[in-house]
Amino acid sequence: MENKIKLLSEQIEEFVIEGKESLEKFRIQYLGSKNVLKDLFTEIKTVPSENRKTVGQLINGIKNQAQEKFDAAGAIKEVTEESNSTLDLSLSGDLNKLGSRHPLSIVNQQIIDIFSKIGFNVSEGPEVEDDWHNFSALNFTDEHPARDMQDTFFIEKNPDWLLRTHTSSVQIRVMEGAELPIRTITPGRVYRNEAISARAHCFFHQVEGIYIDKNVSFADLKQTIDYFAKEMFGERAKIRLRPSYFPFTEPSAEVDVSCSLCNTKGCNVCKYTGWLEILGCGMIDPNVLKSAGIDPEEYSGFAFGMGVERMAMLKYEVKDLRMWSENDVRFLDQFKSAW
Ligand code: DAH
Repeated sequence: MENKIKLLSEQIEEFVIEGKESLEKFRIQYLGSKNVLKDLFTEIKTVPSENRKTVGQLINGIKNQAQEKFDAAGAIKEVTEESNSTLDLSLSGDLNKLGSRHPLSIVNQQIIDIFSKIGFNVSEGPEVEDDWHNFSALNFTDEHPARDMQDTFFIEKNPDWLLRTHTSSVQIRVMEGAELPIRTITPGRVYRNEAISARAHCFFHQVEGIYIDKNVSFADLKQTIDYFAKEMFGERAKIRLRPSYFPFTEPSAEVDVSCSLCNTKGCNVCKYTGWLEILGCGMIDPNVLKSAGIDPEEYSGFAFGMGVERMAMLKYEVKDLRMWSENDVRFLDQFKSAW
């Protein structure tokens, strides 16, 4: 019996498996339902009982031997079949394609970061506004041209519901019931009923800022804007203020930053003026403070508002406003490294 087992073990050892057919032959012979090893298990009854255990172990041994040989040959077969196909296992894996942030989000975040360094927090307000927050509380008279259907997308008339035309509406929402002092910026999307062109769009983004406290002065405003311009456009950036008019600020100013391309000498980007307009600002009109329940005798404040698209155009020298919302990935791809 032991000789028989030894012989079978040698046969298994020597069996050459070359392809599918011989593998199947091997399986039927040594592992199939009528395999030769089964006879050994029947024959074991004839073995004297004291030897049965050892013989049983020997038979199990060659059973395992056959199974291992079969498994190993099967694995090799699979690999050979795969390598005959077009699959190249040595190729590196697919790279995860990383998305990138939209350039407007990048610039928006830069603005937030710059102001948060000097203690401004971030506030948000609704895009669908009422007349009070968008106009009346901001000191717009009833006849003010900005209320005109030409500029504003009205959703409902009487009472008026509209798409906010600027983020100044959030000023009022923040002031109402807030604890003083207030130092906040309010980024958000705004809407205007304008024909879309390279220089105008029916929606864009603004960042508004307000600071209200006792004894806030125009000098504080100027200092804050100067700090912002240097952080945004570089240490060499200079600002200049031009008197202007906004219903919600008095006095009001428009701010220009020195053109970093020509260093105020004049080039086609700054239209040979040496300066680029970046924002509007001023001291919050006492009427506006009153509308929000703040005593203008005790408190004063400044406000400023800037367009994110404009800031991004100046930073990246993009000349057409429509590029920001067309979502052309060939354009957007270029800003991947900017963040
Ligand atoms: N709301 C103005 C606009 O949309 C921008 C602005 C100007 C905001 C002056 C201000 C400001 O807070 O003080 O054109």
